[in-house]
Amino acid sequence: MCAEARLDTASRAPRPLAAVVLAAGQGKRLAAGRDEADAPPKVLVSCLGLPLVEYVRRALLPQAPQRVVLVVGHRREAVEAWMADVWPEAEAVFQSERRGTGHALRLGLAALGDFAGDVLVVYGDVPQLEARDLEALLLAHRTTGAEATVLSSYADDPGGLGRIVRDEAGRFDRIVEARDAVGRPALLALREFNTGIYVFSAAALRPALEGLSTNNAQGEEYATEALPRIRAAGGRVEALAIPGAARLAGVNDLVDLAEAASYMRRRIATEHMRRGVEIVDPDSTIVEADVEIEPGARILPFSHIARGCVVRRGAVVGPFARLRGGTVLEPGAELGNFVEAKAAHLGAGAKAKHLTYLGDVEVGAGANIGCGTITANYDALRKLKHKTIIGANARVGSGTILVAPVVVGEGATTGAGTVVPARQDVPANRIVVGVPARLLDKSHSPAAVPPAERT
Ligand code: UD1
Ligand code: CA
Repeated sequence: MCAEARLDTASRAPRPLAAVVLAAGQGKRLAAGRDEADAPPKVLVSCLGLPLVEYVRRALLPQAPQRVVLVVGHRREAVEAWMADVWPEAEAVFQSERRGTGHALRLGLAALGDFAGDVLVVYGDVPQLEARDLEALLLAHRTTGAEATVLSSYADDPGGLGRIVRDEAGRFDRIVEARDAVGRPALLALREFNTGIYVFSAAALRPALEGLSTNNAQGEEYATEALPRIRAAGGRVEALAIPGAARLAGVNDLVDLAEAASYMRRRIATEHMRRGVEIVDPDSTIVEADVEIEPGARILPFSHIARGCVVRRGAVVGPFARLRGGTVLEPGAELGNFVEAKAAHLGAGAKAKHLTYLGDVEVGAGANIGCGTITANYDALRKLKHKTIIGANARVGSGTILVAPVVVGEGATTGAGTVVPARQDVPANRIVVGVPARLLDKSHSPAAVPPAERT
């Protein structure tokens, strides 16, 4: 191998990478109107079935950081429990007092010890962050050889976000927080804002975070102040503007949260549609994160499919159906309008097309659940949920109430308005009617009904 080729390979060898995620915030404006005790800390607030910070984790993973530090604070036990469950290789550092992003970052960096390499810094409240954003940032950082690169974007009115100030030559100068620009319209009019996503060389960042001032409108230490300090120390600082990335503005209040959900909802629906799932009206349909839908399934308007549900090929959902956690539709199964299903497994071709509640239920292949059927799965006295099993090809008549635990045998029929009490299982291929359900004798089987009454 010639020397040049070796050099080339060496320069492309990945530099060590660590990540610091700031996740100490309380999220007061997200918890507005809720008791502080049961409001989740900001980064665990749910967006389409996943905590905000889980989206950040997923964007970080492909960058393969060798170390990840989360700075936790408000309700740290909840964030640490989530980490133990989902991100055990990440380390938690406790920020006991919220003294600003600069203080939080200093603690995170200290936890990395004498780590040498690049440090990605991400705020934990940016669910719209994508792996490609971080890739672009790292690529720019490494190509320019900067000591610090901040990811910026544009908005017509960046509101409360930090404004990127550039010099006449267009080079990054500093970041001014909106609250520190009050009364300075020229600064507030700047459209380029700080996303709060950065990459630093660890060696340049360490001294830049020492002795940060708190002489600003919020009386906090600002992470953004590290950037002009690195430049003052002779380092190169770049701002990489990604047009159209206004989505990276972070979630601060309930309006931002709804916007994030709406963006993620589109993204999730688009992925499914590209794979051959028909979603008739993505604007009125909510498919949460981590739903498995096979190509050839159809999702009709105004339906909500929760995280963890599975919809197989040929199955139809909606319009106006709600699939809660644990629901599985096997091929060709259908849940129609105003049907709510929770932990319901519908076998191939099973159908419940109208006004039905199916909770904790196993429905066999080809079974038909009539309009207005209810599985009464909750035992209010003992506060327990019970299971209902409906056999293959059973026909549950309109308005049937199945009090769980109960089994409707294969091929069995319940008449309209039947109430089947708990543990009074309906034998296979038999008919029950009435309140409480009683068995019809064999002479009442459908074959014995006078021809004139047949349809
Ligand atoms: C910050 C940036 C702003 C940027 C915006 C993008 C600073 C000073 N400002 O403002 O330029 O436009 O993000 O969203 O950095 N946190 C801690 N400990 C603290 C303070 C904050 O962990 O002591 C965490 C928060 O939980 C949050 C993140 O850091 O996840 C950002 O803090 P936040 O107060 O939301 O900053 P912004 O005012 O949005
Ligand atoms: Ca924020």
